Amino acid sequence: MTTKVSPQTRARQANGASPRPRNRVGRRHVLDLDDFTVQEIEEVFQNADAMREVMNRDIKKVPTLRGKTIITLFTEASTRTRVSFEQAGKILSADVINVSGSGSSVEKGESLYNTALTLQAMNADIIVIRHSHSGAPHFLARNLDACVINAGDGTHAHPTQTLLDMYTMRGHFGRVKGLKVVIVGDLLYSRVARSNLWGLTKMGAEVTLCAPPTLIPQDMLNGLSDVGGHPFSSVKIEGNVEKALDGADVVYALRLQLERQRAGHLPSLREYSRTHGINTERLKLVNPDALVMHPGPMNEGVEIDPDVAHGARSVIEEQVTNGVAIRMALLYGVATPVREQMFRADRV
Ligand code: CP
Repeated sequence: MTTKVSPQTRARQANGASPRPRNRVGRRHVLDLDDFTVQEIEEVFQNADAMREVMNRDIKKVPTLRGKTIITLFTEASTRTRVSFEQAGKILSADVINVSGSGSSVEKGESLYNTALTLQAMNADIIVIRHSHSGAPHFLARNLDACVINAGDGTHAHPTQTLLDMYTMRGHFGRVKGLKVVIVGDLLYSRVARSNLWGLTKMGAEVTLCAPPTLIPQDMLNGLSDVGGHPFSSVKIEGNVEKALDGADVVYALRLQLERQRAGHLPSLREYSRTHGINTERLKLVNPDALVMHPGPMNEGVEIDPDVAHGARSVIEEQVTNGVAIRMALLYGVATPVREQMFRADRV
């Protein structure tokens, strides 16, 4: 995506000035997308546009969050999310401290509450948390003064992933509304799918979920969301991948959560790949300008073929780049009090 640069912006860039995010986000925590409004999501996208402009500069550094401390607390593995939060914080001049489960006192059995109180006692302004327990970020938000951002909790939510996914779609199509988005794969265990359902339905996308019946949540299979007024009542479920992909604008392959597959939901990975893997043949069914997306990390050869993952339609690496801009926008949004933020937005 190219960013138009005005003469005023060019002059500001030459002075090393901060980006001029156009909107206030004005929330303390980012826990999931269920409590985001459409307008708020649009504001995050507009702020991310400003952040992309900073990322494209020769010197990728602005003073926007100077003096703020961000602690990333990741007790589950991560590459993209953790590194992009670190990069986002550093571009905005925050001090970023990374704490992982291994090597910290979590290994000695320290409770999440005590770990979090310890981090707060070090005056953390923002805690970015990834945790294997669903609800861990909400627990911190209830008990700490710091802002909390959910970087993925158990099988529950991954809101920053959804925002970067929708931002990537918007970058290509100019909108999210009306896009036919087909999410294929492990819906049962996927926090990405859950947050994507909130985000995409709010933004007016036409969502189809596709998976073997054993990987679809029971309430979805039973049609419990299929009642008027339910936030997901517009979501379609289609078991047959060929039917689901017909006319799709976005094919979103989910990672098969091998580490969570304890209950034997699949006969074999080969069988899953045969029935639901995204391959070149199946891509013939989608729209000519359709995108292939994946949150990563990928099981290539299982849910997605390498040719597709690295093919012309794939925007998987662009998702990663956009992840930095979205996380910059969110860090800016939660770290800047509304009063100051309005002032800063006029000033920087
Ligand atoms: N998409 C995602 O959350 O990737 P990581 O696990 O590498 O952070």
